[in-house]
Amino acid sequence: MTTKTKKVRKAVLPVAGLGTRFLPATKAIPKEMLTVVDKPLIQYAVEECIASGIEHVIFVTGRHKNAIEDHFDLSPELESFLEQRGKADLARLVHDIGRGVQFSYTRQSEALGLGHAVLCAADLVGDEPFAVLLGDVIMEGAVPATRELVEIYEATGSGAIHVERVPRERVHLYGIVDAKPEKESRWGEKVLRITNLVEKPSAEKAPSNLGVTGRYVLPPEIFGYLAKTKPGTGGEIQLTDGLCRLAEDNKLLACIYDGKTHDAGDKLGFLQATVDFGLKDPKLGKAFRAYLQGLKL
Ligand code: UTP
Repeated sequence: MTTKTKKVRKAVLPVAGLGTRFLPATKAIPKEMLTVVDKPLIQYAVEECIASGIEHVIFVTGRHKNAIEDHFDLSPELESFLEQRGKADLARLVHDIGRGVQFSYTRQSEALGLGHAVLCAADLVGDEPFAVLLGDVIMEGAVPATRELVEIYEATGSGAIHVERVPRERVHLYGIVDAKPEKESRWGEKVLRITNLVEKPSAEKAPSNLGVTGRYVLPPEIFGYLAKTKPGTGGEIQLTDGLCRLAEDNKLLACIYDGKTHDAGDKLGFLQATVDFGLKDPKLGKAFRAYLQGLKL
């Protein structure tokens, strides 16, 4: 850690979106509570926070999102019911969800965009760096994705975001970065200096094929930039606009992620995540593989 940088202790998980790509499932159920094998998407993100050394998770929630709060609270009735039935292992499993981290909740009363959702957490974050994790994205790699970004921030004092190479025909679905190699970087070609970002460009206008995946570690200056950002398309305040200001200040790095990103907020991405995690499941994997192999495709 440089003398000037503070430790990254907090993470903001914006979960106030309407989940329209997943209707009708998300009419009454938060998208982040959709389940891959046996865990809601948001639990994967909270486990990544814990594995990355985060101490305080701040949810930015909205109406119909109470299930998220309940999921990370204790459930003494359920635990004692399971204990009494001799299911101590299940009782422990339920008890341990999200233990070891503090939770806070704040509201975004209207889904006015990801940038606006992050801004809603400004008071709870205060004057310190913080991580942002999109709760519908599962990052699967040898090192927890957020921890990798925390290490880059703490070593450089610059914000850091994960990017991955996306096929040209899909760049219009991502925030795309313009970036150049970082001189004398201890991470080599894996870490680039971002000069600009473009939200969902056409293939012709995209400055690269490096798409933003949904993991960020940011300095608190981003809040000032977001507060000054005017709503764009659809009245939304995009996080990308605040990130562009950080890039102008020469304060934003891109880290090329070498794990696997599952955008499980998208139906196809969700099905792919279910297959991948189903195949790896220690109890179900073998039978699930046999089932898939037997399909006449
Ligand atoms: P998404 O764009 O994937 O979520 O935002 P969405 O808007 O809920 O989904 P669609 O596009 O309508 O299907 C990524 C994350 O940011 C949160 C979402 O809840 C999601 O976890 N988000 C988005 C907010 O908290 N507030 C917003 O205004 C927008």
